Amino acid sequence: MFFVFSSPAAIADHLSQHLVELIRNKPDCRLGLATGSTMEPVYARLLQRMQKDAPDLSRLTTFNLDEYIGLPASHPQSYNYYMHHHLFDRLGLDDSQIHLPDGMSSDPDHECRNYSAAIASAGGLDFQLLGVGTNGHIGFNEPDTPFDSLTHVIELSENTRLDNSRFFDNTDEMPTHAITMGIKDILDAREIVLVATGEHKADVMNLLYRTPADPKMPASALKLHPNVRIYLDAAAASRLP
Ligand code: F6R
Repeated sequence: MFFVFSSPAAIADHLSQHLVELIRNKPDCRLGLATGSTMEPVYARLLQRMQKDAPDLSRLTTFNLDEYIGLPASHPQSYNYYMHHHLFDRLGLDDSQIHLPDGMSSDPDHECRNYSAAIASAGGLDFQLLGVGTNGHIGFNEPDTPFDSLTHVIELSENTRLDNSRFFDNTDEMPTHAITMGIKDILDAREIVLVATGEHKADVMNLLYRTPADPKMPASALKLHPNVRIYLDAAAASRLP
């Protein structure tokens, strides 16, 4: 389940090759995508490979894990903006191929129900990419989120607000709530890869290694899934037994 690579670049190289092969073998595949600093080298390498290998992307569908509530798509820290900037615009995907929860919806609960339903009616996710929070969150499923949860509104934990306020010039702008795919949506994906890089993820990786599936540690839900790989760089793996 745990695979250790020499560097974030080595993970990006391996994972981007896997994604290109996945799209080649199944051009109508549904990809679940993540944002955050961990994914930046992954998407940069994926773009390079896509430019070289040019798989057919016309039937690809993507579903992002999460979005902040209250940030419009034009806000540079919204996940909508992130995805367009790091990946979508450069791949030339059509808007109809892309799905992100709408953090500006006037009826977030309705938005949540529709989002899980849209994933299911697209046929489910073939692949889900995940990062992990220093508190073990996947998507924005914070500790104690039930494993059978679907897309929902979540109040971000103090830990997550502190970790992610680094992206905001003015920390007061950091949203307090988000919409996230639920743990059940994630576990329903046919294949899952979680990526953790950097020394600041070493403690949470040690905890994940030791914890049996327990909602207090959301990433431990992955231990219930038959097709998960966890990719670590040497720094994130430095406290594995
Ligand atoms: C982002 C997401 C989060 C991040 C996690 C790690 O879409 O779902 O779970 O993957 O917070 O973020 P970084 O990579 O910035 O350390």
